[in-house]
Amino acid sequence: MDISALQKARYAYKPKLPSNLSGAISDISVEFGSPTEAVSDIEAIRGIFKNTYGKPLVKFVNGKNEKINRELKVGVILSGGQAPGGHNVIAGLFDGLKKGNPNSTLYGFLGGPGGLVDNKTTVLTSDIIDKYRNTGGFDIIGSGRTKIETPQQFAASLETAKRLSLDAVVVIGGDDSNTNAALLAEYFISNGSATQVIGCPKTIDGDLKNEHIETSFGFDTACKTYSELIGNLGRDTNSAKKYWHFIKLMGRAASHIALECAFQTQPNICLISEEIEAKAMPLDSIVDQICASIVKRAENGENFGIILIPEGLVEFVPEIKTLINELNDVIADNEEEFAAIVNLVDQLAFFKTKLSNGSYEILTTLPPEIASQFLMDRDPHGNVQVSRIETEKLLEGMVEKKLAVMKENKQYNGKFSALNHFFGYEGRCAFPSNFDADYCYSLGYSAFVLIAAGLTGYLSSVKNLTAPADKWVAGGIPLTMMMNIEHRHGAQKPVIKKALVELDGKPFKTFTEKRSLWAEKTCFLCPGAIQYFGPSEVCDIPTMTLEYESSKD
Ligand code: FBP
Repeated sequence: MDISALQKARYAYKPKLPSNLSGAISDISVEFGSPTEAVSDIEAIRGIFKNTYGKPLVKFVNGKNEKINRELKVGVILSGGQAPGGHNVIAGLFDGLKKGNPNSTLYGFLGGPGGLVDNKTTVLTSDIIDKYRNTGGFDIIGSGRTKIETPQQFAASLETAKRLSLDAVVVIGGDDSNTNAALLAEYFISNGSATQVIGCPKTIDGDLKNEHIETSFGFDTACKTYSELIGNLGRDTNSAKKYWHFIKLMGRAASHIALECAFQTQPNICLISEEIEAKAMPLDSIVDQICASIVKRAENGENFGIILIPEGLVEFVPEIKTLINELNDVIADNEEEFAAIVNLVDQLAFFKTKLSNGSYEILTTLPPEIASQFLMDRDPHGNVQVSRIETEKLLEGMVEKKLAVMKENKQYNGKFSALNHFFGYEGRCAFPSNFDADYCYSLGYSAFVLIAAGLTGYLSSVKNLTAPADKWVAGGIPLTMMMNIEHRHGAQKPVIKKALVELDGKPFKTFTEKRSLWAEKTCFLCPGAIQYFGPSEVCDIPTMTLEYESSKD
């Protein structure tokens, strides 16, 4: 099979490990902290996780570890959307496992959590692993979004674990997948199984983070990939001086990706969904905000610019949020009837009596292709597929109309020509940056140490990430510690709390100090492509979000 020159060169890259993982494997021992509590709803979470609740934090320290050389059988799952570095998590897990005992086996479950339910596996050998080291993608075993939720799916997962005599399952996933991992860990124990379950924090969205998980893997590479493209567009538009670029960025609900890309590229406008929700800004006010920048720049003779739009924006605009909630309820209550309606006209007629007047009016005044996007299938976790809603087009259309009115009223005298972009899938399978390559390998290696220590219901963790990699600190975080109860699809469910952009956090505050200048002037930064070879200050830098979050002042 042909491979690119970069892929060949990246095979030779040796990911850096934290010093508490880089010694001889039999010298890595486990130190326990104090018992932990859930984020909130403590009694409810304790009641659901009777066997796995409240475990202590875990840190790896130097010390003899007899148990680490046991022969183990472990299965690994890639769950949900791709994120750069997934292959390195598997490589780190594999290397740890084989260093512990060369006879240990790593099974890859094919196509995501569904592979566990249906017992679809492949044995991962060093020949296979070596072909995927330091590469992007999840293609080594494939991924999937199956949610293990029915009693039959849990029982089938247990059956697979028994058949393969699995000591452990490692779930590489985001907040929903790791919630599933916690439930699976509890289910296995309460059904007398010794199979342990360990999670690894994955998602380009950056929303699986807290005091102990500083960032999810993939966020670094995805943001740098999008920022390269945005920076290039900035240079292009500052050369030709004729286009406004409306750029939607992936990230689902949270605006972390948009905010990080704003730091890296200094666009004229970056919308932050969490702020829009906090200020209850209707769509019209957002359009006004964009137009104000366009008008001001036109007065300066600059009829061009860059606007960043977080993917999940529509879910945070009050009137659209209400519409989405009503749609979700109606669709959930009338699943079969709705699925049988194939065209938009009939779909709108179906909703006429079922939505509130306000929501029905919004739905019917949206451009038809956007209205259809709101009615698409929900994902298996019940989420609206925001990546499929063309918010960038919706905003561009509204801005164009508003500018035309302003022109008539002599409030605007510029030229407006716009282009739309959606950067999402482009960043999910890039070659992991050195940061993600090192971080992911360390997460996988750390997952092995947690397994060897006999732990279950833990998330592999690596901290102190703004320091050089040898100063990182690996360990484990009990999954129940990150949980609370949320209302999901008509029921109260235990879930890992999603981290949205904090409006009183350092990254957002720093952004607010800079954005009015960016809105008016041309301050674009051009970060260029991710560098894999060269000086450390170019190749190994973490995201600015991490830098701001870890800075003390
Ligand atoms: P995860 O939450 O599974 O990591 O997925 C992230 C993501 O890339 C989101 O940013 C995006 O909204 C979604 O996946 C797209 O999903 P799909 O790959 O199913 O189109």
